[in-house]
Amino acid sequence: MNIAVFDSGIGGMTVLQQIRKLMPNEDFLYYADTAHIPYGEKPKNELKTYIFEAVDFLVAHDIKALVVACNTATSAAIEDLRKNYSIPIIGIEPAVKPAVIESEPEKKKVLVMATRLTLKEEKYHRLVERIDKHDIVNPLPMPKLVEFAEAFDFNPDDIVPYLQKQLQPFDLNQYGTVVLGCTHFPIFKDIIEQQFPKETHVIDGSLGTAQNLKRTLEALHQTGGGNGKITFFKSGVTVKDEETLALYEQLLEKLNAIL
Ligand code: DGL
Repeated sequence: MNIAVFDSGIGGMTVLQQIRKLMPNEDFLYYADTAHIPYGEKPKNELKTYIFEAVDFLVAHDIKALVVACNTATSAAIEDLRKNYSIPIIGIEPAVKPAVIESEPEKKKVLVMATRLTLKEEKYHRLVERIDKHDIVNPLPMPKLVEFAEAFDFNPDDIVPYLQKQLQPFDLNQYGTVVLGCTHFPIFKDIIEQQFPKETHVIDGSLGTAQNLKRTLEALHQTGGGNGKITFFKSGVTVKDEETLALYEQLLEKLNAIL
């Protein structure tokens, strides 16, 4: 049986790559809902329809677990998904807690980069309220990073000016931790790190999500049975085009080196 990994686009491959490293004896279905990307710029109710469409498709394909490898989809729909499907469902949310734990004692701040919808959602606000007792957490939407990633544009000449413009209002020396709260953003982790002082730590939730999945499947005695095969889908259509598949493989290799 397969593990399904779902995102609006290629961002979930940051999570897929961590899972593959941790669980090499699994097969995967990777579903990118490219017909409806960007999720982060759409109303929650509209997104829920797309997410349920994608998950209906995946559960019809012999899967043993679903990883919602998208912070935006997790914040919009994870509770509803768990109510409606009986397979294990693992989500991802911005790693605010470890960030506050590491930056607060050093009297530093935390910058959370995510999509507009994630930062607007109640789930995020509840998380911050629970953890951020000294008001050190600041949000920053970065919608264009999703666009760059989807265009496979990893060129610093395009990315850096955008980052600089977005970061311009912040005193970067004050930030101890930067949270990449959108699965597309770790693709640019090295470029983002370069914008901050050396001591600033840039973190994301991909490894934690992979570990969570592993623990869940181990507890159910459902690990193994595969060899790392990935079948890719774009909004319900199998990706067969060699050029696209080669780009995906290159991205997974790049991520293997970054993460
Ligand atoms: N990759 C998604 C996330 O983790 C969102 C990208 C989008 O806006 O579709 O939030």
